[in-house]
Formats: sequence, C-alpha cells, structure tokens
Amino acid sequence: MNRKIWYLLLLMGLAVQGYAAAPPSKEEGALIFKGRCAACHNINKRVVGPALAGVGDRRSMEWITKFVQSSQSLISSGDKDAQALFAEFNNTPMPDHRDITADQVASLVEYIKSETKTATAGNVDVITYKPGVRPLAYRPLMLSDYGYITGFIAVVALLVLVMLMMVRVKDVEREMQNDK
Ligand code: HEC
Repeated sequence: MNRKIWYLLLLMGLAVQGYAAAPPSKEEGALIFKGRCAACHNINKRVVGPALAGVGDRRSMEWITKFVQSSQSLISSGDKDAQALFAEFNNTPMPDHRDITADQVASLVEYIKSETKTATAGNVDVITYKPGVRPLAYRPLMLSDYGYITGFIAVVALLVLVMLMMVRVKDVEREMQNDK
C-alpha cells in the first residue's frame, strides 16, 4: 500500500474518533433510533414497547443505559421499575443492545426530546392531535388550486406549441427538398 492510502486511513480513523467523542447529537440518536428501535418504539405512541417521550425525565441516564444494554439483566437484578414495566408489557423482553454506549444513549435521549409532542411523565400516551384537525400529510388536488391549474395549462400549451413547431420544421424541410 502506498503512503497516501495510509494517510487517508489515518485521517478517517481520526474522524471516526472525533465523531465518537462528540457531544450528544440528535442526528446520531435519530440514526440509531430509526435503525434499531423504531420497530418496537414510537416516541409519542405506545406500540410494542412504551412511548419513549419523557423517558429522560422519568428515568436516570444510568437506568436507561442499563435497560438498553440489557433489560433482562436489570430486571433480574431486582430493579423494581424495570420489573413493573416488564410485567406491564406482558413479559415481552426487549432485546439487548450491548454495543450501545452511554454516549449513544445520551444522543438517543436528545433525539427523543426533540421529537416529543406532549411530554409529561406519566402522560405519554396522549396524542396531541384531535380528531378532525389532524393536518393532512398530502394536499389533495383541487380545481380551486389556481396556481397548480394555471401551471398545468401552461405546460400543456407549451407542449402543443412545441409540437406545432416541430411539424412546421418538417414542412419547411420538405419544401426545401422540393425546391431542389
Ligand atoms: C423487539 C422490540 C424492541 C426493540 C427493538 C426495542 N425495544 Fe425498548 N422496549 C421494548 C419493550 C417490550 C419494552 C417494555 C419493557 C419490557 O417489556 O421489558 C421496552 C422498554 C424500553 C425502555 C423503557 C421505557 C420506559 O418507559 O421506562 C426504553 C428506554 C427503551 N425500551 C429503549 C429502547 C431503545 C433505545 C431501543 C433501540 C436501541 C429499543 N428500546 C429497542 C421493546 C423493544
């Protein structure tokens, strides 16, 4: 291997180290959450596991770290909160994530905070949307949508114009050939 590649590897190593030592970031938390937790957890809604909104307030960071790394160890160590939660969720064990560090847990909590809608401990199942006022994620197409309709007509008109011009060009070509 030549020198340049070694330097490159060294730089990459430093970059990774810098990343690992970085302060908690919700971007890092988002990545981990979406990849490894979202199958069972939603932040504002109870699904397979509890809604995680407000978890940073109702538990200590140490507790969360232990629970994420190995919930079953924490439960069998006699932790009352973990035992109660386990029972509440019909003894569904949460899988261990032993490789997740305390720093990464801090990032996860940071992310959870940033995504929390109604965050008060003990009141995490509340959804802030009322029926009927939930904003639509998409906008239905309507004739009253003048901007859209005008744009649409303009595009169609332009296409027709281009087509007419192409026909005209062909005509001219043909005329020129006939002239020869
Ligand atoms: C296979 C499903 C599953 C996955 C994946 C999962 N969890 Fe859980 N989690 C649970 C269940 C179920 C509980 C409820 C406690 C129990 O049953 O042990 C729970 C509980 C928790 C709690 C305690 C919440 C509270 O109210 O105190 C935290 C924190 C937590 N999970 C974080 C995470 C994080 C972070 C990840 C991703 C790294 C994750 N979980 C991945 C199923 C899962």
